[in-house]
Amino acid sequence: MVDDVTSVEIRLLLEGLHDVYGYDFRDYAESSIRRRLTHWLNESPFDTFSQAQSGLLRERALFESLLRGITVNVTEMFRDPLFFKAVREQVVPFLRTYPFVKIWLAGCSTGEEAYSMAILLNEEGLAGRFRMYATDINETVLQQAAEGVLSISEMQRFTRNYQASGGKASFSDYYTARYERAILFGELRKDIVFAPHNLAVDAEFGEMNMVLCRNVMIYFKTPLKERCLRLFDSSLLPGGFLCLGLKESLERRVQGERYEELQPAMRIYRKRYG
Ligand SMILES: C[S@@+](CC[C@H](N)C(=O)[O-])C[C@H]1O[C@@H](n2cnc3c(N)ncnc32)[C@H](O)[C@@H]1O
Repeated sequence: MVDDVTSVEIRLLLEGLHDVYGYDFRDYAESSIRRRLTHWLNESPFDTFSQAQSGLLRERALFESLLRGITVNVTEMFRDPLFFKAVREQVVPFLRTYPFVKIWLAGCSTGEEAYSMAILLNEEGLAGRFRMYATDINETVLQQAAEGVLSISEMQRFTRNYQASGGKASFSDYYTARYERAILFGELRKDIVFAPHNLAVDAEFGEMNMVLCRNVMIYFKTPLKERCLRLFDSSLLPGGFLCLGLKESLERRVQGERYEELQPAMRIYRKRYG
């Protein structure tokens, strides 16, 4: 009984958040969103979602704290190094033939994936020839992303990832260590635009050569996943590359008609011409 009431409260709350703020979490996978909302509630002064609802709908700051709790922001430099190796070896040769490359990286979290791509493209001779739009629903992580500061304790792991991804320099060339912090070189940021974008309600980005959306749709139900795939499709130019997370894939039918598998194990697809 208690569980049922909580489900109703969550459903009403998500409806309200959508109506008031335009943030749509109604199509997020239920178990994951419930777990995260409950964690937020336990840390809040409220006992139930009904009690919290009025404050959440009327006070933007309280809603922002919930938003920070809802999104899963785990990320790392050169996450899944073999994915980056495949991009280096199998996608970059195509990108090199374009005069300019436009990339949309959706769900960039604190920026590590965008900085990893920028390092890779610079090493592969594309410096100054690309623009990357790195977007996320959560403005707090976007601010962190723009700062480009990592924790020094992560550097060993990130260095291993970088090497396994086929990195051509020394990872330490890309940051300066200061006490507990590793500050990424500002130069890496000059071709990246960090901006808010909500995959559940916002429009596509035009004329992209590459779209990356990794480890974001795993939290979505099918209708929202399908909305994302339509957005990516209308953003991509023919011949453009779509990169998903290793636990995600294109539906077979869509894939056969509109995309070819460039590197199936690494979830890299290429949009067909015509
Ligand atoms: C687990 S992180 C993935 C980060 C990075 N792509 C990676 O693979 O390391 C998921 C990100 O998706 C973002 N996100 C969740 N829902 C979103 C939405 N509706 N629109 C845009 N970004 C969203 C979260 O804020 C979070 O930063």
